[in-house]
Amino acid sequence: MKIKYLGHAAVLIVHGEKRIMIDPFITNNPQSPVKLQDIPKVDYILVTHGHADHLGDTVKLAKRDGSTVIANFELCSYISKHGVSTHPMHIGGKYAFDFGSVKLTPALHGSSVVEGDLPVYAGNPCGFLIEIGGKKIYHAGDTGLTKDMELLKKENIDLAFLPIGGNFVMDLWDAVEAVKMLQPKIVVPMHYDTWPVIKSDPSRFKEEVEKLNVKCVIMKPGETLEL
Ligand code: NI
Ligand code: MN
Repeated sequence: MKIKYLGHAAVLIVHGEKRIMIDPFITNNPQSPVKLQDIPKVDYILVTHGHADHLGDTVKLAKRDGSTVIANFELCSYISKHGVSTHPMHIGGKYAFDFGSVKLTPALHGSSVVEGDLPVYAGNPCGFLIEIGGKKIYHAGDTGLTKDMELLKKENIDLAFLPIGGNFVMDLWDAVEAVKMLQPKIVVPMHYDTWPVIKSDPSRFKEEVEKLNVKCVIMKPGETLEL
């Protein structure tokens, strides 16, 4: 299985014939190494919450490829008015898809879509625990540090994507605390340096995480990891 990081919180999982995209913020993403048209057909799009840096190109991509969007119920209702096929879920719920299973995990954050000048409620933000190809991948979404993460330790996570940029989400020090609770085999920092307000130090994060005997891979946008 190949996992490609596209900058910010955008991750593409390729397993066999299936392509699963998480938070496809490509257009207007200063970190994106690709253009939307360079992205091959995606089968599923998982969206953690409604903010533009996560919902991103979801509708465009789903319309182009006929992909199914997996997100919370409210965000799915919002998206489906664009004629996109959705699979609504909610936090704590798990469902087996043809590529593997997805469980929605809690995230301490907000979730809305701005229409005109006003934010429209887009349900609870979430993270995703994805079981695919015999591996477990956790994408935390946008979140502050929460003790709920301790509950995920029993999942024996193979690969965890954690935000470290601060301001809107955990900073690197809180993300280190998250690693202590999650105890994943590999952790990848995300959601930093996209803009000055979320500047972080991934090398320092890696140094602290590796003191805990957890492998940390700093992925540059466009890089791929084999799992
Ligand atoms: Ni957000
Ligand atoms: Mn964000």
